[in-house]
Amino acid sequence: MTPPVLLVTGGSGLLGTAIRAHVAAHGGWEVVAPSHGEVDVCDPAAVSAAFNARRPAAVIHCAYVREDRAVNVDGARVVARCAAAAGARLVHMSTDVVFAGRETPYTEDDAPDPVHDYGRAKADAEREVMAAHAGAVMVRTSLMYGGADSAPVRMVLDAAAGRTETAFFADEFRSVAHVSDMAAAVVALAGMDVAGPLHVAGPEPVSRLDFARAVCRAHGLPETAVRGSTLAQAGLSRPGNLVLDSSRAGSLGVPMPGACGARLGTG
Ligand SMILES: NC(=O)c1ccc[n+]([C@@H]2O[C@H](COP(=O)([O-])OP(=O)(O)OC[C@H]3O[C@@H](n4cnc5c(N)ncnc54)[C@H](OP(=O)(O)O)[C@@H]3O)[C@@H](O)[C@H]2O)c1
Repeated sequence: MTPPVLLVTGGSGLLGTAIRAHVAAHGGWEVVAPSHGEVDVCDPAAVSAAFNARRPAAVIHCAYVREDRAVNVDGARVVARCAAAAGARLVHMSTDVVFAGRETPYTEDDAPDPVHDYGRAKADAEREVMAAHAGAVMVRTSLMYGGADSAPVRMVLDAAAGRTETAFFADEFRSVAHVSDMAAAVVALAGMDVAGPLHVAGPEPVSRLDFARAVCRAHGLPETAVRGSTLAQAGLSRPGNLVLDSSRAGSLGVPMPGACGARLGTG
């Protein structure tokens, strides 16, 4: 039997690449991942044509540009409207930075309170997506890492090699998640009947400094190769704790990201 079509926007990006690899290894879907040049998510006619041509049963919307509100908000609305019109399931990728940060983890019951332009754009995108497609699930995740070529790992390796002067904060915590684990989670969600915001991220808060040290261990480097600091020492006043509580996703049976020490191969 032919598998259902899964349309992936942003398929050449970090998560999109991991989604394609996950489905190639596990099957269950025929992935269609048009490039940015083939389908600009801000172009309603192009997105609509892609839906009409391939009739996807589900869509995972990964396309974004951190500094481009039009892509993040208008593109999300266009994809959500087309998915709703086509009766396709929609997994919309969102982020922990729809929240400002605080001492306790955020659940799906907390209202977004973003503090910078990117966070505001992603929070606005969530509202647009829900207005256009009430059945959409909006996956909020944290910093995603992967192999040595993924940005968070590369940042550590560049600092450890002395190519950059980056300091890593001991008091800035995120629910970091391996991108392969996130791919497994969102592909599973493409086939599940879950709607609204859903937190899917790593199981424990990890400081930037502990993450950097774990990367060093995984790459056979001494932990002292990276320099630690604190937000206060750096003169920054941004909240250090931005932690997602992903227990709802776990209770729904979504495959959950593993702990970063283990996923970086350091036990
Ligand atoms: N990476 C993280 O740590 C992180 C954390 C939390 C949430 N997220 C969310 O996860 C999602 C995926 O992130 P990612 O890191 O995988 O992104 P990424 O690696 O930056 O990839 C973004 C993708 O979007 C495509 N794209 C950009 N503008 C487009 C447009 N107008 N039309 C069609 N495609 C376009 C890019 O293609 P071109 O390169 O060809 O332009 C690329 O394939 C995003 O929604 C992001 O907000 C990411």
